Amino acid sequence: MSLRRCPTGPATNTNRSRPSKVSWRVRRRRRNRQRELSVPTPYWTNRLCLPEDTDALLKLVRAVHGDQYQGLNRTYWQWRYLNDAGFRADVFMAEYEGQPIGVLPMAIFPFVWGKERLKGVMYTGLLTHPDHRRRGIFQSLINSCNARAAELGAHFSMGMPNEAALPGYFKFGDWTYVGLIPLYVKVLSVPAVLRPKTGRVLAGVLGAVPQLCLLRPRRALGGPRVECELTQLVPADLDEVADQFASACGALMIRRSAAYWNWRYSTRPEVSYRTFVARQGSRVSGAVTITTERRRGIEIGAILDLVSRDGVAGCRHLLRAAEQDLRARGVGLVTCQATTPLLQQALREERYWRPSTKRLPKKFHYICRPTGVTGLPRQPKDMADWHLTFGDSDNI
Ligand SMILES: CC(C)(COP(=O)(O)OP(=O)(O)OC[C@H]1O[C@@H](n2cnc3c(N)ncnc32)[C@H](O)[C@@H]1OP(=O)(O)O)[C@@H](O)C(=O)NCCC(=O)NCCS
Repeated sequence: MSLRRCPTGPATNTNRSRPSKVSWRVRRRRRNRQRELSVPTPYWTNRLCLPEDTDALLKLVRAVHGDQYQGLNRTYWQWRYLNDAGFRADVFMAEYEGQPIGVLPMAIFPFVWGKERLKGVMYTGLLTHPDHRRRGIFQSLINSCNARAAELGAHFSMGMPNEAALPGYFKFGDWTYVGLIPLYVKVLSVPAVLRPKTGRVLAGVLGAVPQLCLLRPRRALGGPRVECELTQLVPADLDEVADQFASACGALMIRRSAAYWNWRYSTRPEVSYRTFVARQGSRVSGAVTITTERRRGIEIGAILDLVSRDGVAGCRHLLRAAEQDLRARGVGLVTCQATTPLLQQALREERYWRPSTKRLPKKFHYICRPTGVTGLPRQPKDMADWHLTFGDSDNI
């Protein structure tokens, strides 16, 4: 049915060729019924969660995920959302008859874009109880979080939704879909990845990997001697390194201060990461954090985060330190997400390969939405405006 705006009134139906036999009262009743069906009246209320809601929220997590994600427990919740390390979250819940039927945590982070200090919120851990889906709970939680983000003075909201949540974000209309976060891979051990069970899968993921190209020798690394040392906690000097890295990247990123690094990688419960700090003499020049995971019979390494004060060459030193450690632990393949040209160049020079994102078994979508709070130097346009790594995601 085509609608046209009447010069003196609301939109009117222009399809007048066949007069309807149904009276306008019946049509109005039908129209109202249709509206009621498609937009259910909210029967829940949204509110900010309190620490004492944690058990009920974890019950909701179990109702959605069953026994999967056992690590998503009280200790994790405390670390992720209720910590007092400066990286806490506001958690909204949709409440019905005193119980949470939906939840959306919004983690508040200090961001940096070049030299500009900004505030951003990350939407993560969204859930609606299976008995209450497709009634607008997700949408209402997003609306509550959007309002709260502006209230907190955040410049933007961002997230990495899965395939289930993505259609909702598209529907809400005010989110920008930035794209899929690019992944880089490198084969560390050809025999390990060519085992009968895994070889075919990997060939599918990597596409026509130009193995010979991967095996080409890397360019030598010049410059002063860099020592990389395994550490539990990064030193406070990392703040300056992170700021120099942010400046060199020129991309919008979580400020990777020492406090952030230690909270994210040293205190996360039930996960073991390995962090190396790079030094030139006594001067801290960078850090890299890695982890490993066994998938389809092979040990896969992931570079979660990396900062260096020495541009591409500094990143390459850290990539080599990571690679050396992973090789020593029998890892066959190493992966790294990279959105900024600086890190991408370092990865290419270290012979990493970027498979087509369409082939990847797990896709990391990235979306963002400006809140309208003034202070953003400009609107981020595309993926290269962001610095995103595995470390920004809750999944690793
Ligand atoms: C994804 C999820 C949160 C959606 O919650 P919900 O409360 O049912 O979503 P809403 O009713 O607010 O739907 C909003 C819009 O999202 C889209 N949407 C929601 N569920 C959808 C589905 N199963 N298929 C396609 N689109 C869907 C629709 O566009 C919908 O609007 P419409 O119903 O008017 O068409 C819910 O399915 C869920 O908890 N899934 C399991 C956990 C999960 O994957 N969370 C996402 C982590 S990133």
